[in-house]
Amino acid sequence: MLRDHLGIETVLDGCSPQGQCGCCTVLVDDAPRVACVTPARRVAGRHVTTAAGLSAAEQQRWSDAFLACGATQCGFCTPGIVCRFVGHERRGADLSDRTTVDKALAAHLCRCTGWQTIREAAAHAAAPPSPDATERDPDAAARRASIETGGPQRSVAASVLGGFDFGADAAPPSTLTAIAGPDGNWHTAESLTEARRRAGKVQGRRTTLEPSPPIEIPEPPPGTQWAVQLATCWTEPAYLETDAAWCEPGGNPSDPLANGGAFGGKTTSPVRDEARQLAADLDQPVRVLWSREDTVRRGPKRPPLAAGLSTNGTGIVRIARTPGAADVLRSVLPHAEVVEVDTPGPPTSMNLRAAVWAEAQMLAAALSRLQAGELLEATTAAVEVRSPEGATASATVSPDGIELHIDAGDPLDEVTLRSYVIGASHMAWSWVTSEALSVDANGEIQDLTIRSFGIARSADTPHIDVTIKPSQQPPVQAGNAVFAAVAAATWLSRGAPAQLPTS
Ligand code: FES
Repeated sequence: MLRDHLGIETVLDGCSPQGQCGCCTVLVDDAPRVACVTPARRVAGRHVTTAAGLSAAEQQRWSDAFLACGATQCGFCTPGIVCRFVGHERRGADLSDRTTVDKALAAHLCRCTGWQTIREAAAHAAAPPSPDATERDPDAAARRASIETGGPQRSVAASVLGGFDFGADAAPPSTLTAIAGPDGNWHTAESLTEARRRAGKVQGRRTTLEPSPPIEIPEPPPGTQWAVQLATCWTEPAYLETDAAWCEPGGNPSDPLANGGAFGGKTTSPVRDEARQLAADLDQPVRVLWSREDTVRRGPKRPPLAAGLSTNGTGIVRIARTPGAADVLRSVLPHAEVVEVDTPGPPTSMNLRAAVWAEAQMLAAALSRLQAGELLEATTAAVEVRSPEGATASATVSPDGIELHIDAGDPLDEVTLRSYVIGASHMAWSWVTSEALSVDANGEIQDLTIRSFGIARSADTPHIDVTIKPSQQPPVQAGNAVFAAVAAATWLSRGAPAQLPTS
């Protein structure tokens, strides 16, 4: 109703009609509600308020808080979270209390920020500190954000409140919407609701099938045991803005990366070609919009691997065949035999954050510990890595939280760099400890809801302490180094178990 009939595009849609991502949260008489599973008839005669309809003072205070804390990156989750916070605030909740904020965030997913800066923004809005004398340069912030995401990205007041044109919203109003039906055919209509009705598509399914690694750890030579073993599952990058693009007949399709995000997941998205082809076939402007289910089925995953290594680094690493993956493994683990295997499952990509390189760094960190005469028992020793981009990250994972020291050249804007470092840390910690996608033996994905991938909630995420080294050197991307260092330190802190996720 809000998006399709009333044209209110500041209410964002990351999973409808699953009601699980929280992006479409609005206030119904001050109570936060997920719009995509709230029938219009149930709110007849009541007030519905979107982020764009909050009072001017609320908008100012909350966008100031999110921007001051670096609590928004792609911004897709942000207006829904702001609406929920305001709803709680209007009812007298104390948003400087972590438990209260964690409970509020349990209804949301944010893939970019790692929650911590959002909690800080809630505390900031609840009790705004006196203005900081340090001037921030928005262009320097945008430059750091673009270095981290590999594409244009800005965090501005408009993105906090949903006023940014995301991929699905950039098309002119008369554009046809096309969605893929369960039969694989395209169905078009003037509205998404009608296109879905024509397609007969009911999306979202959760399975009881336990995720398991698709590739078996190789057998060690007879009479021996591997010193280090690791097998990974399929994992879903779970960027919140699903793939979307629009095109005029004979024109250039729009970019599905509206405001960064996607962590490399949309680099080769076919959605642009689909929009171009449909616009040509129908001789009309067409907007192609993937559902959450489409993104899970068709979007790329990290290539799963299974490794068995001896202390001297010899052994075997099996990797799902993906262009470039074997070379990365050989560069980090030069003494291991790398075997590419064809395993049924979703597409894989080396474009995802530190894909395969982080896994290789984890194995290398375990080997260096063994070669130093240490055991692979749970340890809180720091893991330091240097990325191909030239960033250095040192991570320590202990019951007290995650501690990071970063050198990424000129930070440009410390708030922005810290935000991306915290986001990459959360993604690594969450991946190692809890994320996996159920894929059956035929390669069919069985988990199609956004809640089923195991992304660590705010309440379960350890505190992340970041120290950024001042530098005048050219700025380099920090995220890959941070992801690999935190993944390795998290895995080693749990005794380097043979399978991810660890719990
Ligand atoms: Fe939350 Fe991107 S900022 S999903």
